[in-house]
Amino acid sequence: MKTIKFYEKLLNEIDADIEIVIVVNKNFDQRFSDAEKELLEEAGFVGEQDETCLLAEKRKIFVGADSIKSADIRSAAANAVRALEGKGYKIAKMGSYMSHPTCTATLRAQAEGLLLGGYRFDRYKSKKSDKHLHKVRISLEEYNGYALDIPAAQRAIDKGIVSAEATNFVRDIVNTAPDDCTPETMVQIARELADKEVHLNVEVLDTKAMKKEGMNALLAVARASRHEPRLIHLSYIPKEKPVATVSLVGKGLTYDSGGLSLKPADYMVTMKADKSGGSAVLGILKAVAELHLPIEVHGFIGAVENMIGGDAYKPDDVLKAKNGKTIEVRNTDAEGRLVLADVLCYAQEKVKADYLFDFATLTGACVVGVGQYTSGVMGFAAEPTNRVLYAANTLAGEMATKLDFNRFLRKTLKSEIADICNISNTRYGGAITAGMFLGEFIDEEHKEKWAHIDIAGPAFVEHPWGENPHGASGAGVRMMTRLLEKLARGDAHK
Ligand code: BES
Ligand code: ZN
Ligand code: ZN
Repeated sequence: MKTIKFYEKLLNEIDADIEIVIVVNKNFDQRFSDAEKELLEEAGFVGEQDETCLLAEKRKIFVGADSIKSADIRSAAANAVRALEGKGYKIAKMGSYMSHPTCTATLRAQAEGLLLGGYRFDRYKSKKSDKHLHKVRISLEEYNGYALDIPAAQRAIDKGIVSAEATNFVRDIVNTAPDDCTPETMVQIARELADKEVHLNVEVLDTKAMKKEGMNALLAVARASRHEPRLIHLSYIPKEKPVATVSLVGKGLTYDSGGLSLKPADYMVTMKADKSGGSAVLGILKAVAELHLPIEVHGFIGAVENMIGGDAYKPDDVLKAKNGKTIEVRNTDAEGRLVLADVLCYAQEKVKADYLFDFATLTGACVVGVGQYTSGVMGFAAEPTNRVLYAANTLAGEMATKLDFNRFLRKTLKSEIADICNISNTRYGGAITAGMFLGEFIDEEHKEKWAHIDIAGPAFVEHPWGENPHGASGAGVRMMTRLLEKLARGDAHK
């Protein structure tokens, strides 16, 4: 599904092949659904969240939502669109949904859901089906009968389109096979973004430049790959005076084989998704530029492939990171933190930011701890962490939870021969010890400004869930876009 458009028209004035109706809180006695109430009952449709029922003869598809809150409407809209895939309908229409006469949050979520649910990844299919829904037309006819403020409705839909398209853009990158998305491909993608947007600029460091910067930890991880590593610095400088400066750091492992501490076969599959953090940073910058936010945003992506070979880095190696700290390598599969250590140091040296966030598919332990659908958020200070949690859970409809650091877990990273070890001496608390490792590379100036977001679970799931398809979800994009929008408005965190 490609486009959605808002029409200042009533539903019956809009042409379409099919109409989408969201049944909210199992209430069928409502203007959009009362005429079909009996037919729906006969079909066994009860209106559970995301349950769909196509009444082809009525040219309507019904989908359940538990409430008119954003998260439920986003997911319902996505599932309706997904249920129409391959059925041959080209154009759909639907009413608009608002939780309150003056609050357009649900309408934005509705727009997001339609585009997120319409996502398809068919790059590698030799036969591409053409039975796709192309458009959804949204009417000003509102579910509760509210009279819409037209410009406000249009703005909400436009913002929804930007954040959903940025999410789908990231899904495409992450789903791309590892041999078709190398560090250099990530550079090309960043350059294309910068070519399109006047306020985006890109700077790239190659191996030689990174050697000069002393980024030996990142370079060690990259050494056995035939694809050279890249550090991508994509920056957005708004035309007005920025209200804040934010740095975003992303783990861009275009493949993680585990290195010499090789992953077992079953665990290696899906490791093309280890570039999800870096890809999310690209998507966030795309959204920020399109929204023209008055914030300066710097994205730093460590694009690297972790492979094996005669020149691979080894367990027992000792690496000196950019900030001079020495790291004893005890497992080459804990490579993300090595790459991020150097990129975090570089980012902090380059830009003195008001906030520093990093996104990484960092640990399997995070997935074990909080489940596949939720990100783990960590840091030294509550404020940046709470901002992320609020933006994710309350605004964006992404799930995130806080994981606390503690001084006892910090001790498990001690090395006998170097300053720190790249793995902990206990298998417990692996997401937190990885986060605390990163914390060793945060300077005094940024300690209170940093949050680390482990997206290892939600970034890539091999089945559809909510508004997310099989595969890459684009985790991190919507939460950070909402956080930055809120920051741009100058809102203090509640
Ligand atoms: N990229 C993986 C983490 C991962 C696992 C992401 C599952 C997505 C799904 C990371 O580089 C890794 O391999 N981490 C190790 C760390 C361990 C060696 C301390 C892990 O989680 O097993
Ligand atoms: Zn790994
Ligand atoms: Zn990894």
